[in-house]
Amino acid sequence: MSTEAADFESRARAFYDLKILAIAYEWDVVTELSRGAMSARDLAAKLEVAERPVTALLMGLGAMGLVRYEQDADRWEPTEKGSRFMVTGSPNNMRDVVRFAEWQFDALPRLREAVKDRTIVWNAGAHYLKGKQATGEQDKRDVFDGALDVSAIAIGKSVMTVFDFANVKRVMDVGGNLGGVLGTIMEKFPGVHGTVFDLPHVVETTKRVIEKRGFSERMTAVAGDMNSDTWPTGYDVILTTRVLTTRDPHEIVHVGKKALEALPSGGRFVIFEEHLSGDEAHPVPPEAVWGYVFMLILSDRGGSYSRDEWTSMLREAGFAKTEVIAKNKWAVVIGTKA
Ligand SMILES: C[S@@+](CC[C@H](N)C(=O)[O-])C[C@H]1O[C@@H](n2cnc3c(N)ncnc32)[C@H](O)[C@@H]1O
Repeated sequence: MSTEAADFESRARAFYDLKILAIAYEWDVVTELSRGAMSARDLAAKLEVAERPVTALLMGLGAMGLVRYEQDADRWEPTEKGSRFMVTGSPNNMRDVVRFAEWQFDALPRLREAVKDRTIVWNAGAHYLKGKQATGEQDKRDVFDGALDVSAIAIGKSVMTVFDFANVKRVMDVGGNLGGVLGTIMEKFPGVHGTVFDLPHVVETTKRVIEKRGFSERMTAVAGDMNSDTWPTGYDVILTTRVLTTRDPHEIVHVGKKALEALPSGGRFVIFEEHLSGDEAHPVPPEAVWGYVFMLILSDRGGSYSRDEWTSMLREAGFAKTEVIAKNKWAVVIGTKA
C-alpha cells in the first residue's frame, strides 16, 4: 500500500488510537510498567484482566511508540515518550487531553446532524462555552480546563513567534483559563506581569494553579464576564487566545470595544485564533483537521474568519491600526488603539 493510502487508512481508523489510549490511562498501564518492566502475563495478573487483551493493548501502545518490548527478557517497559505522557503525576502527562477527546467522542455519532442541521450535539461543551459549568461535575470541568492547559504552552510559544513581549509590562489574558498561555509568556519575559480574566468558576481554579506554579508575585486572576462586566485596566497588552472563533461577528466587535475601552492610547489587543479561512489557511497541517469541525459540535455560531473579516471587526470596534499575521493554520490579529 502506498504511504498516502496507509496514511488515509490510519486517519479513518484513528478512533482506535483514542480508545486504546483511554483504556491505557484508565488501567494506568504505563504507570504500572514504570515501576518495573514486566511481561504481559504479570501485568494482566496485576490488573486482574486476561492476558490476551493486555497483550493486544501493549502492542497497540508499542505501535504508538509509548512502550517497548524486550524480547530476550520477555518484558514490556515505557519509552521515554510514554513516561512523559502517560505516567500518572508526570508534569507533561496527557491524561486530560485523552479524557477530553473521549468525552467529545460520545457526541460524534451525531456529527452528521451537526453538519447538516446545525444541531449542537455536544451539550456539555455548549454549556461550557456559554460560561456555565460544563456539567454539574467538577471532574468534567477539570478535564476541559486541564486539556486546554496542556496545549496552552504551545499557544503561548506560537504567539511569541510573531509578537514581541520584550517591552511589554502588563498583560491581561481575557479567557485566560488556568494561566497556561500567560505563564509561558512570563517564563520567557521576566519583566512581564499578568492577569487572567475569566469566569468566576474558572478563576477559582486559576488562583490555585498560579500559587502552585510559583507565579503569585507576578500573576493575578480576576473573575468576570467579558461581555457584561467592566474589564480591569492598566494593561499595555490585552491578549485573548482561542476564545473568539466560536463567537459571531457581533459579539467579537462588542468584545473588541470592551478591549478598546480598557486599553491606554497605543495599547494593543492581541487575538490568537487557530482557524483562519481564506488563502492563509492553506496548506494546513494534518493536526488542524479536528479544529475546523470541533466548533460545530458545541456551537451554532462562529467559524474560521478570514484576514479581511478580522480586520473589519477590529476596525468596527474602533482600533486605529490593525494587523493580521497568519502562519499555517493559526493567526495573530493585532489592533492598536489610537
Ligand atoms: C477555549 S477556552 C481558551 C482558554 C485559553 N485562552 C487557551 O487558549 O488555552 C475559552 C476560555 O474562555 C473563557 N470564557 C468563556 N466565556 C467567557 C466570558 N463570557 N467571559 C470571560 N471568559 C470567558 C472560558 O472559561 C475558557 O477559559
